[in-house]
Amino acid sequence: MIYFDAAATTLQKPPQVRKMVAYAMEHYASPGRGGYRAAMLASDAVYDCRKELAELFEAKPEDIVFTMNATHALNLAIKTLVEPGDEVVISGFEHNAVWRPLVQIGANVKLAGRKLFDPDDTLEAFRVAIGPETKAVVCTHVSNVFGYVLPIEKIAALCHERGVPLVVDCSQSAGILPVSLGKLHAAFLCMPGHKSLYGPQGTGVLVCGHALRPLLAGGTGSLSKSASMPEFTPDAGEAGTHNVPGICALCEGVRFVKNVGLDAICAHGKMLGQLLTAELSSLPGVRVYHGRNQAGVVSFLLETEDTEQTAARLSSQGFSLRAGLHCAPLAHESAGTLSSGTVRASFSVFNTAREVRALAQSLIS
Ligand code: ALA
Repeated sequence: MIYFDAAATTLQKPPQVRKMVAYAMEHYASPGRGGYRAAMLASDAVYDCRKELAELFEAKPEDIVFTMNATHALNLAIKTLVEPGDEVVISGFEHNAVWRPLVQIGANVKLAGRKLFDPDDTLEAFRVAIGPETKAVVCTHVSNVFGYVLPIEKIAALCHERGVPLVVDCSQSAGILPVSLGKLHAAFLCMPGHKSLYGPQGTGVLVCGHALRPLLAGGTGSLSKSASMPEFTPDAGEAGTHNVPGICALCEGVRFVKNVGLDAICAHGKMLGQLLTAELSSLPGVRVYHGRNQAGVVSFLLETEDTEQTAARLSSQGFSLRAGLHCAPLAHESAGTLSSGTVRASFSVFNTAREVRALAQSLIS
């Protein structure tokens, strides 16, 4: 099986990630829940992961809140900043993990920037959309459908200048592109642990540059006499027992990313994306979505075949790709692919040029 769905989750993990799940289950109890050895070892191991993440995202270990996934992190961030009726500006490439919480709250959502692979247009659209009434900006760093890298540093500078809190959805950039909480002056960075940070499913991270409103209430191992949740991070966002095996394995994933290096990881994904684009562009009847500002995610479709059918055909030939709307109808609407969806290939460091060529070959056979 050749796996090209890293944008959904990375299936191939570094071996130390898999091993750490079993090791943590055997040796670690619950962090902050006891002074005995297995609990203290768990506390240290979880703190090590906070330190690794803090270093990668230029934050403090206490700014790191562990979540179940990026959706959980986004809900925490959005529900901290946004009240019913508030004006919130988002890009035209957001995932339902951004769109649905805002609709659930009853926010007044303004879309900014719908032109694919056009960072100047995106920035100008944010410049126009952010007004005196804007309570928050929520923006993806990289489109999960098209790999479009939005000009997040410039959008962040604009938000900072106008005093508007920014939430960045780093689901497709964490572990691939440099992201700095400090340099972006972001209120929150939200990300999964199980995609390009190579941790297990069930892990996510919220990096906090802003006070946090708890989404869940419960035990934190701190301020236990109080009936209220602690207001400080990470405890404000971490009610209940931690996913210790997941967090410890995520720590190994983050170390793997640091060892390989963001530059090398990003260059590898781009190289594979450009190779697939070149291979597919030479085929008749294939539409490929590509541009200069693109990470290792490529959407395409065959003009004569339904996208789900293409993915099913590829699956029967041993290739795993996701087709349809990728939980991001706004992005498809922006690109004009809402009715068809697309077939998406997304790469991890474990994919090779040979696999990409085999995919292109399969499409024509
Ligand atoms: N958001 C994930 C994807 O793009 C699940 O497939």
